[in-house]
Parts: sequence; C-alpha cells; structure tokens
Amino acid sequence: MKLPRRFFQPLAAGAPQPYRELPVRLERMIHFVPPHLEKFRAKIPDLIPQVDVILGNLEDAIPADMKVEARRGFITLAKANEFGSTGLWARINALNSPWILDDLTEILAEAGDRIDVIMLPKVDGPWDIHYIDQLLAQLEARHGIRKPILVHAILETAEGVQNVDAIACASPRLHGMSLGPADLAASRGMKTTRVGGGHPDYKVIGDPGSGSERSVAQQDLWHYTIARMVDACQANGLKAFYGPFGDFSDPVGCETQFRNAFLLGCAGAWSLHPSQIEIAKQVFTPDPAEADFAQRILDAMPDGTGAVMIDGKMQDDATWKQAKVIADLARLVEERERGENRTVP
Ligand code: GLV
Ligand code: MG
Repeated sequence: MKLPRRFFQPLAAGAPQPYRELPVRLERMIHFVPPHLEKFRAKIPDLIPQVDVILGNLEDAIPADMKVEARRGFITLAKANEFGSTGLWARINALNSPWILDDLTEILAEAGDRIDVIMLPKVDGPWDIHYIDQLLAQLEARHGIRKPILVHAILETAEGVQNVDAIACASPRLHGMSLGPADLAASRGMKTTRVGGGHPDYKVIGDPGSGSERSVAQQDLWHYTIARMVDACQANGLKAFYGPFGDFSDPVGCETQFRNAFLLGCAGAWSLHPSQIEIAKQVFTPDPAEADFAQRILDAMPDGTGAVMIDGKMQDDATWKQAKVIADLARLVEERERGENRTVP
C-alpha cells in the first residue's frame, strides 16, 4: 500500500497531477459505438447532443480481424468531432490480449488530449489498475497530455467481485465501475445466456397450499453484485454503472433493470442500441416531482440540521442529505439541457 502522502503524486515525471475530486459530469448513458464502421462514425455529430458519453468500443463485439480498423476508426472519430460537454471514452481490449498495448500507445499518441476515460475490461484486482495507471502516466508524459485520463473498470469476473473493494481504492485515476453481466455470468458459471436482466427460473415461491396455486416472484440475479459495486464505489468517491442490457426487444425489462440500479445508487448504464438512450435518460434523470420535493426539504432546512414536517413526512439531517443527492443531480441535468459545460471539479 502506497503511503497516503504519495497517493496523489504523478506516476511519471511530466504526467499531469491526478484529480483529487472527480470532474462533475452527467453520465446517464455510456453509448457504445463500433468505430470500425464508417456508417456509425458518420452519425457521431448527431449523437453528441443526444448522449452524455460516447464510447468507442475496441473490445468484445469487434471481430478479431477488425481490431486495428476499430482503433484507427476511434482515433479518426476522436479527432474529427467537437464533443463539448459530452464525454469521450474508449473501451480498450483486456490486459491479457495482444491488442491492448497498441490500443493505448496509439490512442494516447494521436488523440490523448481528447479522451476523458479509458474503460478497462475484466479487471481482476488492484494489480490491473496499478499496471494501467503506470502505463497511462508514462504515455501522458511522453505526449504532453495535460488532463489526466481516468480509468473505468468493468466488474465482470468472479475474482474482480471478490476484490472489488481493493480495486476501488487502487488509484486516484479511477472514475468508477460498470457491471459486466455477460462475462461475469460466464466467469461465475451462472447458467444463463442472457446479457443482463432477470431470468424466469431465478425466483422464490410461496408455500404449498391446499389446492391453490403457489405464488411466484422472480428475483434479481444482479442485486448482490450491484449493491457491492455501489458500496465499493461510493465509499471511494467513484461512480457505479449498470452495464449492458442485451434484449433490445424488451424495453420494459431494460427500464426496470436500469431503474433498480438508479435507486440503488448507480449514476448511469450502457446504451447499446439507440432505443436505450431515451430509456437511460428517463431513468437516470430524477423524477420532477421527486426533485421538487427534494428542493422543498433543502429550502425548509437551510443549514441542513434539525427536524421539520413536510406533507406529513418527517425530515432531518439525514433526509436533507438524501434530498441533496437528488437536487444536485436535477441541477446537473438542467445545466446540461441549457448546454452548459461543467468539466472541472
Ligand atoms: C460486458 O462487457 C459484459 O460482459 O456484460
Ligand atoms: Mg464483457
């Protein structure tokens, strides 16, 4: 464990100082784009105002013989567009793949000053974060990149879940984590071929009765992992995200999973299909009535202490903090809708 005093020192001479607080940004959906396809690259200017984050995907779903085209395509789209307050992320290939070294060296050399976050798949433990942390610092220094590039870990191996707390405090470069339900299901030996979402066979049933049907309630396969991820992230000032929901024909299922994640503390989710952009926007934006109520709590307790009654409900210092979470998020959404840019802590 590094000494606390040295935790925030740059890891390479000439690399930028790591952030002490994460930049304040709205990240309700991380929209995945396959950058090797010109058809999708051409849509980026229209996408920028619609989404909070655009991510160029270089990893799974990109065929092995298209990895180089995807990397080149990502660099092209990063240089060709002005992103404004929309984040630009890249999901690079895993640390044990033959592509990651070129992914990082080429992207940072050619577009390092345009990238906000590198998403790192299949993170097993803090050692993976230490490796990429050091490498990014060397590349930032070499290419004179002034803004530190953040790292977002995908939580998608059984080992990663076991080490989630250590991962979350491995480096000041960490931005947050996403649940990767497909790889995680495989890694754990779960018996599902679905990408995220529930499963009708994962359920509890009522006791046998005399003659009547037993009640059935489907349970959430991902509740445990999301709750662990949220605690690990929030305890370290990071953001937690639901990952992919693969059934594009089930918008209600998608919305329900996203909403559970939102209520549990997640900041956003991945959108893999245009139809999921609106779902994520709706879900990860506070409900206007809830935001108004939160503002009334803040107004009624200007210094955040004491106890008041509003509409028959008791409010105190703790509910003031709950209200602040919702009111702060609502303000961020309003600012984004007014086109304001908030990229600095
Ligand atoms: C995402 O990468 C997943 O494996 O679900
Ligand atoms: Mg995965």
